[in-house]
Amino acid sequence: MAIEQTLSMIKPDGVQRGLIGEVIGRFEKAGLKIKAMKMLHLTLAQARAFYAVHRERPFYDSLTGFMSSGPIVAMILEGENAIQVNRDLMGATNYRQAAPGTIRADFAKEIEANIVHGSDSPETARTEIAFFFNELEKV
Ligand code: CMP
Repeated sequence: MAIEQTLSMIKPDGVQRGLIGEVIGRFEKAGLKIKAMKMLHLTLAQARAFYAVHRERPFYDSLTGFMSSGPIVAMILEGENAIQVNRDLMGATNYRQAAPGTIRADFAKEIEANIVHGSDSPETARTEIAFFFNELEKV
């Protein structure tokens, strides 16, 4: 299996609820290495750019408003099969469908405020990593 990198975000609800350590602890226990990390507060324009793929969806305005409502933590995670490992740790987008023991099943209360985001493919991971990090910011 290939060593991959993926982009993870702890969303404003995860930061506000004090779940940064809990989420990062799960990543580290699963063997994912943190290769870059920063806390930042996205502007609405930045949130709209990050989620541009969803611009036709009915939830786009609400999602981007939420994502720019408070600080987030962005990380590059690296490991074998990191994209899928991260998605398995997060659980399904809709917390009601997330498997027991996943981050979203354990903590999310809404489909939009679902604690974490993770890239869904190698192409998306490359784009999303480049959105947040330049070469100097990676170890
Ligand atoms: P994420 O994995 O960051 O990708 C897109 C985000 O849009 C998703 O998590 C949710 O936060 C949000 N989202 C997806 N589907 C819906 C929906 N039906 N209603 C509201 N928000 C949604």
